[in-house]
Amino acid sequence: MNRLRSATVWAIRYGLPGAAIRFGAGRGDLIARLTADQSVRADPFQAYDELRARGPLPSNRFVSATASHRVASEALRGNGFLANPGGGANATLDRILAAAVDPRAIGPVDHPSLLTIHPPEHTRLRRLVAHAFTPRAIAAFSERIREVAEDLLDRIPDGEPFDLVQRYAAPLPVMVIAEILGVPTAMREQFLAWGNEAAMTLDPDLGWRAFWRADTALRGLNGWLSEHLDRLRRHPGEDLLSELVHHDEDGDRLSDTELRATALLLLGAGFETTVNLLGNAVRLLLDHPGQLAALRADPTGWPGAVEEVLRYESPVQITLRVAAKDTELAGVPVPEGRAVVLMLGGANRDPDVFEDPHTFDITRANAREHLAFSAGIHYCLGARLARLEAEVALQALFERFGELRSAGTPSRRRTRVLRGYDRLPLRAETGRLGATPV
Ligand code: HEM
Repeated sequence: MNRLRSATVWAIRYGLPGAAIRFGAGRGDLIARLTADQSVRADPFQAYDELRARGPLPSNRFVSATASHRVASEALRGNGFLANPGGGANATLDRILAAAVDPRAIGPVDHPSLLTIHPPEHTRLRRLVAHAFTPRAIAAFSERIREVAEDLLDRIPDGEPFDLVQRYAAPLPVMVIAEILGVPTAMREQFLAWGNEAAMTLDPDLGWRAFWRADTALRGLNGWLSEHLDRLRRHPGEDLLSELVHHDEDGDRLSDTELRATALLLLGAGFETTVNLLGNAVRLLLDHPGQLAALRADPTGWPGAVEEVLRYESPVQITLRVAAKDTELAGVPVPEGRAVVLMLGGANRDPDVFEDPHTFDITRANAREHLAFSAGIHYCLGARLARLEAEVALQALFERFGELRSAGTPSRRRTRVLRGYDRLPLRAETGRLGATPV
């Protein structure tokens, strides 16, 4: 039964679109190449420029797409478009899909995750979780993030090669979000393993085997979460999930599926994205030693540097909106139900907004205008936390190691929606030099 459901979901969500995308990419269709072509996957930025040069909203038979900052902002902020990463291409297929998705294997972007629901449902759920992410609540985590960072750095061997992703960039965000949610940090290896498989489901072109592995991981994660939420029902703690379990607004409580979907999104979004921000930042700074030296000399530059990494190599490259009704985008008519692919990573290299956009410059005055955290009602709830984690973790890393060098070829994650590294071999060449700038 599981396999039958999974096969149906895979066929509708990935099999058919994947075949169409590969067919289109093979025939040179730019939008399809932007999703599936291996060389574009490695370096999508020239293809984004090409897309932008074709006008505000180029289309193929199935979808429209944009790499324009203005057009992407309009779609994200306008109420003519809904976030619906699950489908939208065809109402009948959407209905079959909704029936086939196994509620015991829902993913972070499956209904009723915040990313798939709309006001007033979205407003209610977002309000419930937002208070854990206020400026004050997040600032209170600064010390703890520093402790987690220092502890991880203590375990990195002096002078020997190590993988920055495995030893630092991945465990740090998972430990932080686990503490915020009140899930045991001892589960971190398991969360990372589940998360890495599940992250693949964000891409539209996913083979059956990878999908089955992701589905199995999601089943494991859902099963564990159900039991954990049951435990919290009996023995509530001080954490956000305990609060959500016991939340009661005039008799209105979150259902088990709502709870699981919310917990999954927070957990998944909490580490599957920030790991990329950290890896991308370290690699970019090592490739730009002059800018790294400036940061070592004047640490007040760190917030600007993090914004520029977010702009230049956005950890989330793509998102999707679906026209809720017959509407217009940038003056182009868009029929109801049409999917619009928003190339956030391309919008962040738009020369109309960012001067000399392909230059990495940590002093760029308007870097913060990027769309790396989206915009509108789905604007990233964890943006403040991600920024703080990056500032604290990067500063701690470069203070600890006076000199870091590459110790092998880095490899990029195979995901297209998420952009980051799965391996970044480094060596702390000169040992621990404390905070001494080099
Ligand atoms: C560098 C790190 C991060 C990046 C680049 C990022 C990016 C994004 C983007 C692009 C969206 C919106 C997608 C859309 O509009 O379709 C989003 C939404 C969201 N993010 Fe993040 N995120 C990051 C870190 C985090 C963290 C640490 C959390 C913490 C829990 C988090 C929680 C969420 C949630 C809950 C939403 C859904 C908000 C809603 O739909 O109302 N994110 N994120």
